[in-house]
Amino acid sequence: MPLDPTLQMPARFRKVLERCRPFILVTRENRPFIDEHPFGLDVPPELIFDPMSLRSARFLDHLEKLDALSFGPHGMPMPRWVFYDCAEVPTAVFGFVAEAKLLAPEMRHAFGVPYPDDTPIPVSMYMAVPTIDPHVFFGHNLSSIGRSVEPHEGGLSGLGTVTKALCMKLLRITSLVAATQWDSAALHIHIKFGPVAVVTAYTPAHTFPRTLTYRHEVTDETLRRVLAGEPPPPTEGASRTVRAHDDLALQALQEELERDGTPYRYRVATGPLPDENGQLEVRVVRSADPRAPTGR
Ligand SMILES: CC(C)(COP(=O)(O)OP(=O)(O)OC[C@H]1O[C@@H](n2cnc3c(N)ncnc32)[C@H](O)[C@@H]1OP(=O)(O)O)[C@@H](O)C(=O)NCCC(=O)NCCS
Repeated sequence: MPLDPTLQMPARFRKVLERCRPFILVTRENRPFIDEHPFGLDVPPELIFDPMSLRSARFLDHLEKLDALSFGPHGMPMPRWVFYDCAEVPTAVFGFVAEAKLLAPEMRHAFGVPYPDDTPIPVSMYMAVPTIDPHVFFGHNLSSIGRSVEPHEGGLSGLGTVTKALCMKLLRITSLVAATQWDSAALHIHIKFGPVAVVTAYTPAHTFPRTLTYRHEVTDETLRRVLAGEPPPPTEGASRTVRAHDDLALQALQEELERDGTPYRYRVATGPLPDENGQLEVRVVRSADPRAPTGR
């Protein structure tokens, strides 16, 4: 099945699809519930892995390494049992592989050499877990090492974005809640799916309290817009900046959300950007509409 010809994609996203091949990690039981051809994309049969099969063991080693490379530096590598319990069994994982020869030498080494040049190494993955609300998924992991694929040519730009968008389609997600840190570069990706509502601004329940819980809705129109490289519609309202590492400011915003009783009041308008002193800050907009972006 060819990729939907009506999809508009910028050259850098098309390059992702040219250089990489998609993979799916899904149990036999969950397989009937996913869209195996998101926007018509063909996933090669040899790249559909069942986490309950011995055949998948080496690929799972590689996924664990991809996670460790992405989240290890942030102090959040995922124990293998968490991956199994919270993602592989309850949901499905989607991502891309690149041939080992395309990786930067140090990255190729990190995955364990020697492998033949054409060994498919996972370079991105996304997963989201269904919540008790049948409309809502929780985003669990987004990893990408796109910048280490053909680094002499500038790396792959857009791998994280394309991976998340196609996984939303594969899992048939209509509403996503997730958590990330205010200083995470991934916010640059998530806001593309906007409007993105702030659900919590300061989160003691998380290992890192400077965590933002956010929510955005997902429609085919949204995904087509993201894959076309177009920005989300601007949110009207008063704008303010939030310092990513300022506990007191984040706590004050959290108190305001709780006092207000309208946790969806703020929308995330930018990813973390350095101010004149190099401190990362995120711009949020106080929306006139306090409802969840769905209005539900
Ligand atoms: C964050 C991460 C997923 C980005 O992956 P990626 O493949 O580089 O993502 P994309 O190429 O699609 O980049 C999306 C946007 O983010 C921006 N971006 C990505 N990394 C950035 C960084 N370190 N600093 C500033 N902007 C960054 C890109 O410029 C791009 O913006 P644009 O499309 O408007 O030009 C990847 O770096 C990663 O795995 N990081 C560690 C794990 C993590 O933080 N995961 C997310 C937790 S929620």
